Amino acid sequence: MKKKQHIPPYTTLYRLSSWMFFSLIIFTFMGASPYPDRIVLTWAGDPAHSQAVTWRTDRSVTQAMAQIGIAQDNGDEIKAEEKVAITTPLHSDSDGAVNYHSVNFEDLAPATTYAYRVGDGKQWTEWFHFKTAALEAVPFSFLYFGDAQRDIKKNWSRVFRQAFRHASDAAFTLHAGDLINRAENDEQWGEWFNAPGWVNAVIPVIATPGNHEYVSEQDTRRLSSFWQPQFTFPQNGPEGVKESCYYIDFQGARIISLNSNEKQEEQKQWLEEVLSHNPQRWTIVTFHHPIFSPAVHRDNKELRNLWKPIFEKYHVDLVLTGHDHTYARTHAEETAYVVSVSGSKFYKLNKQPWMNRSGVETQLYQVVRIDADVLTFETYTATGILFDKFELKKQEDGK
Ligand SMILES: [Fe+2]
Repeated sequence: MKKKQHIPPYTTLYRLSSWMFFSLIIFTFMGASPYPDRIVLTWAGDPAHSQAVTWRTDRSVTQAMAQIGIAQDNGDEIKAEEKVAITTPLHSDSDGAVNYHSVNFEDLAPATTYAYRVGDGKQWTEWFHFKTAALEAVPFSFLYFGDAQRDIKKNWSRVFRQAFRHASDAAFTLHAGDLINRAENDEQWGEWFNAPGWVNAVIPVIATPGNHEYVSEQDTRRLSSFWQPQFTFPQNGPEGVKESCYYIDFQGARIISLNSNEKQEEQKQWLEEVLSHNPQRWTIVTFHHPIFSPAVHRDNKELRNLWKPIFEKYHVDLVLTGHDHTYARTHAEETAYVVSVSGSKFYKLNKQPWMNRSGVETQLYQVVRIDADVLTFETYTATGILFDKFELKKQEDGK
């Protein structure tokens, strides 16, 4: 005969308290707290003289701040100045109410290593280092990633970490849109920030929005409400697409982000202006939708007709895109057009004559190095195997 199980009252109490304890752990891990997380460096101005940092806390932190000083070999000797942050509240369906904070450090010395930390005056993060850009065209490299988009924690984190292991001295990481799958999904943004972890706090991010950073609302589409609070990008773009269309000059290169999701015509005018007054030796443009589509049943003809003549007129060297979940690049004659993918969502390839190199079902990252008149472009697989390589050599006439 089955005996009725007797549960002593303290067992129920124990179960309840352990449930509360683990819920607290899970909540602390997943959600925002008074302690800063999702810390990300970006540029809002000149990389030789400024550096922006953005981070997240819960709503209890209403006055956040950052400290900055010249980095020292003995941390206790850092003489820091304090700057009060600009706070932007954000309410998302999945994570409730949070605050994003940002500080733009200005009047910095070029080619100098700084230490900074962020907090609320009582609780501080550890000191992070960054180095300002040099005034001259000192050689540098950067990492370029196509769509991370799906299974970010599961499959993209290892690509980012392999890329960082490979080029830990990268001046910045560049993300060509579709960083996540659902524009308003806090959990996916959380995965995107957790994969690089503290690397985003020491290597600046340049990002352009993809169609998955857009959300449909009634009859219109709008950029994710996360974009502007969580990234602090330059405001030098056209009205309506500021912080998604912008440019940054870094050590002899002009890096331009275009927003291929909207206002393409307005951006064309702006692009002509930005390219016709461009003193930099190299020009790199990034946006999400490819000029030449490698995937089956895809072709962005309107975008190609609108923007491609401008790229060629002003000798743009590299056009870095995503969206097609394959790999392909053109013959690197004048402008090299690249489509790549870093996440694990893949499409079928439509082989075409313009492709110099193509690939399918492979997670990739790119190391781009600029050294005087030579640009070296290398594509590697998730396990660090060289997949593609080409060089661009600058001639006297800028071609
Ligand atoms: Fe896309």
